[in-house]
Amino acid sequence: MPVDGPVPWERADHTGAKHDIYRRYLKRWFPILLDGAKPYRSVTYAEGFAGPGIYVGGHPGSPIIALQALVDEVTNTSSLVKMLFVDDEPRCIKMLNEQFRSRFPVRPRTPDTLWSKVTLGTCIEKLESALDEMDSWGQPILAVLDSWGNVPVTYRLLKRLADNLSSEVIITLGTQPFIRFVSKMGSDADEVFGGDPTWRALSDLPSGAAKRQHILTCYRQTLQRAGFKFLLDFELIDTRGESLYLVFGTNHRRGLEKMKDSAWEVDRVYGVGFRDPRDEQAEALFELTEPALAPLGRLLLIRLKSGPAAGMRIESLREFALFETVYRPEHVIRTLRELRSQGLIDSDGQALTRSSIVRATP
Ligand SMILES: C[S@@+](CC[C@H](N)C(=O)[O-])C[C@H]1O[C@@H](n2cnc3c(N)ncnc32)[C@H](O)[C@@H]1O
Repeated sequence: MPVDGPVPWERADHTGAKHDIYRRYLKRWFPILLDGAKPYRSVTYAEGFAGPGIYVGGHPGSPIIALQALVDEVTNTSSLVKMLFVDDEPRCIKMLNEQFRSRFPVRPRTPDTLWSKVTLGTCIEKLESALDEMDSWGQPILAVLDSWGNVPVTYRLLKRLADNLSSEVIITLGTQPFIRFVSKMGSDADEVFGGDPTWRALSDLPSGAAKRQHILTCYRQTLQRAGFKFLLDFELIDTRGESLYLVFGTNHRRGLEKMKDSAWEVDRVYGVGFRDPRDEQAEALFELTEPALAPLGRLLLIRLKSGPAAGMRIESLREFALFETVYRPEHVIRTLRELRSQGLIDSDGQALTRSSIVRATP
C-alpha cells in the first residue's frame, strides 16, 4: 500500500524502541552466524517492507541499521552476506538507494561477499521470488516483515522460512485494521492467518481488549502452525498508550534467548514499555528502570496451580519463563521470593535456588 503522506515520515516513539531492539539483535545475529567456529557459507537478511531508510530528523531506518550492524560487528570477510529490501512505494525505494549511497560511500564488503538488492513491488510479488533468485534457501535467512500492521504476506512464505535452515522472522502486527474492518475484509485477511477464519470470531467478543487478545492469540497460533517452535511476542507501548505488536519466530533456543536479551535491554529513553499480551491485567512490564514482575507472578501461580501437587523445581519454572512468557529466566527467583513473602507459595527450604521445589499454598 503506497504511502499517503510525505516520505520520509516522523519516527513514532515505539518505532525508536523497535529499532533499538532490532539493532541489539542484529549485532548478535550476524556474528553468531558468521564469526563462530563454523561460519555459514552465506546468510540472507531480507525485508519485505523496507521503508525509505530514514525518518524525519535523520534517524536511520531498519535497512541502514542492519547494514551498520554487519559492518560494526562482523570480522569474517569470506562468507557471503545477501541483503534484500522490498517496498512497493517508488519514493521509498529511491530514497533508500540514496541513503545507502550517502551513509556507506565506501563499499563495506567486496562484491563477492556482499550482494544487495533493492526492489520495487509488493512483498507478496517480490520477496519470495527474489530469495529464489538470490539462491538464499538452504542457508540462514532472517526476514523482517514490518508492514503497516496488516501483514500482507503469504502463509506459504512463512512456512518456507520456518522449514529453512536456521531461519527466523520478525513481524509487526497491528490489531486495529482487523478489528475495524473485519466485516469488509475478504480472503486476503484470512491468508494472514494461514487461511483460518477463526480470527473473525472477534465480532462476538464484548470488549476492545478481548478482541485485541483474540487477534494476537490467532496470529501466535498461525506462526506455530507454520512451523516456528519458539515465539517471543510482546506489545511495545508508548507514553500515549499507542501499541505495536512484535512477534519473533525461531527454531533455536539461542535465538529466543538473544532476542529476549535484546528486548529487555531496550533503551528506556524511548519512554516505551512492553507488555505481555497473555497477562489478563495488561500491565506494562517496566517503568523506567525496574521491570514489573507482578505479571510474571500471576503466570507462575497459574502454572504452579495446574502442575503436580508436590510442587515444581525452580529450574522448570525458569524454562517456562523462557519459552512461554516475555520474561527472562533470571526474573524467576526474584518473583518467587515475592510470592513467598505474600504467602502465595511455599518452598522446600529457606534458600531459593534452581534446584529448590516450590508449590502454591492451598
Ligand atoms: C512501517 S514502514 C517500514 C519501516 C521500516 N521497516 C523501518 O523500520 O525503517 C512500512 C513500509 O511498507 C511499505 N509497504 C506497504 N505495503 C506494502 C506491500 N504490500 N508490499 C511492500 N511494501 C509495502 C510502505 O511503503 C512502507 O515503506
